[in-house]
Amino acid sequence: MEKENVKKGKKLMKIFLDTANRELIKSWIPTGVINGVTTNPSLLSKEDPDVKSVLKDICDIVKGDVSIEVVEKEPEKVYKQAIQISKLAKNVVVKIPFSREYLPVISQLTKEGVKINVTLIFSLVQALLVAKLGVKYISPFIGRWDDIDVDGINLIQDLVIMQENYGFESKILAASIRNVIHLQKSILIGADVATIPPTLLDKVFNHPLTLQGIDKFDADWKKLGKKNLFD
Ligand code: G3P
Repeated sequence: MEKENVKKGKKLMKIFLDTANRELIKSWIPTGVINGVTTNPSLLSKEDPDVKSVLKDICDIVKGDVSIEVVEKEPEKVYKQAIQISKLAKNVVVKIPFSREYLPVISQLTKEGVKINVTLIFSLVQALLVAKLGVKYISPFIGRWDDIDVDGINLIQDLVIMQENYGFESKILAASIRNVIHLQKSILIGADVATIPPTLLDKVFNHPLTLQGIDKFDADWKKLGKKNLFD
């Protein structure tokens, strides 16, 4: 498991996997770098239709927070479903889309100690409103801003400034990360968490210079003709 490796007062960025695929999640856990998982209805639609089993398994596989999104629409039903979701496992975080009609629901749930991740955040003021309600995570979407030709990274920057200005406890969870540049900029700006599709995380291991370097060390070692390092 990841060790605490931060100076007092500093934070270490958390990495969540943005997937509902149990096999992929299982394959990443032994690396020790995964701190949680985020799911959403689109990701669930690609998996086994026995959604409850899928989600329960993910909560068992992962030690850290697992975000599970409500699918009800009426505020009362959203509240009831949020409570139901929160009871699925200890590490569940209930994901609720940003909407005026859900603010009273979110407010009530946070008062009751339910951990909330507010998703589909596209502006600083949206983020401020839910930070005031004491949610655990705020999820600004980067890629979907880029889709309409606006640099989504600016939103992460704005949220970090807001967090520094006011000292909110809510964590900034950079979402809709589509490429390595999004990830690099989220790290440099200081997002608390980045949720990353596993296919994107794979790319980190395919750096041509790292791969070439490994081959060169191997080839040079073989020139010595030794069986073991210390023979
Ligand atoms: O965590 C939210 C994320 O899954 C959305 O990503 O690529 O559908 O915008 P995307």
